[in-house]
Amino acid sequence: MPVNLRSDTFTQPSPAMREYMAQAPVGDDVFREDPTIRELEEKTAKLLGKQAALYVPSGHMSNQIALNLHGRPGDSLIAHRESHVLFYETGSPAALSGLDARVIDTADGTFGVDEVKALLKPVNIHFTRNRILSLENTFNNRGGIVWDRRLFAEVAAFGSENGLSVHLDGARLWNACHASATQPADWCSYVDSVSVCFSKGLGAPVGSALAGDAEFIEQARHVRKRFGGQMRQAGIIAAGAIYALDNNYERIGEDHANAQLIAGIVDTSEHLSCPAPPSNMALITVDNPAFDAHQLVDAAAADVSAFALHERRVRCVTHLDVSREECEQAARAFVRAAARLAGEVN
Ligand SMILES: Cc1ncc(COP(=O)(O)O)c(C=O)c1O
Repeated sequence: MPVNLRSDTFTQPSPAMREYMAQAPVGDDVFREDPTIRELEEKTAKLLGKQAALYVPSGHMSNQIALNLHGRPGDSLIAHRESHVLFYETGSPAALSGLDARVIDTADGTFGVDEVKALLKPVNIHFTRNRILSLENTFNNRGGIVWDRRLFAEVAAFGSENGLSVHLDGARLWNACHASATQPADWCSYVDSVSVCFSKGLGAPVGSALAGDAEFIEQARHVRKRFGGQMRQAGIIAAGAIYALDNNYERIGEDHANAQLIAGIVDTSEHLSCPAPPSNMALITVDNPAFDAHQLVDAAAADVSAFALHERRVRCVTHLDVSREECEQAARAFVRAAARLAGEVN
């Protein structure tokens, strides 16, 4: 089996997690009678330093519920052009909430006050209202970039001072915390709402949570229903998230070390480069013009599976189902494949 570095969403629930899930007490969560979901929501809110949290089926839904509540049709949403909310959520800000995207384009997905300021419009009859600022930490599409906390605080504060509701897509906030030796609440205190995923680095099979103040989350429960995201005896899957928080949070640093190991090995190839990864994603650049990222992925496919993000870039994501040895093997497979493609060896 090739080492699966396509995403940290591919993890399998461990036997212990499955056992914990099987034992979970459940009830009808539409009537708020699922004790396991309540436990997860309370635990998550506490961890994030927010008044309340809502369990939802996906990070996509969690983000879009937040955006729907923060703005009205015809309002503006300021976000990076390759942020998940704009780039990978099937046009939901426009389709579900009528939001007008104003996009920021920076190299690493983070940005400063000046970029936001440049997108604020005068308050008059011609323009959509300045309304929402969405930040993403870690920033997925540029390789799990971790925001500088001071920059994050400055931008969020600037947004709030200028009447914007600030949302954090923290699908991998856990990774950002490990990488920067911070706590989730250290980031969440600057934003009005935050979405976190249990189904990525934490290794739970399903689900995300939206957190904010109690009234906001009460309204979010209503919007979740409007989007069809209410669930019944979903404590059985929420239990996977509780187990993941209790057992898989502390080990996330191992994934970061493994991503660094991959980068160190791949970077020795004269055809490839791979800078030290900030979190659990190693981005390989194909420097040799004789072949591209898709060819590299195909050539190494017997040993490792990874996504070509575009013509010259391959993304490798580490997670709890790949060991250090497997990461090393995968990295060496890329180096060998590049050499073959360059015609160095048969
Ligand atoms: C940054 C980010 N936000 C949101 C999501 C959406 O999560 P889900 O797949 O649970 O909808 C993802 C998924 O990979 C993501 O990477």
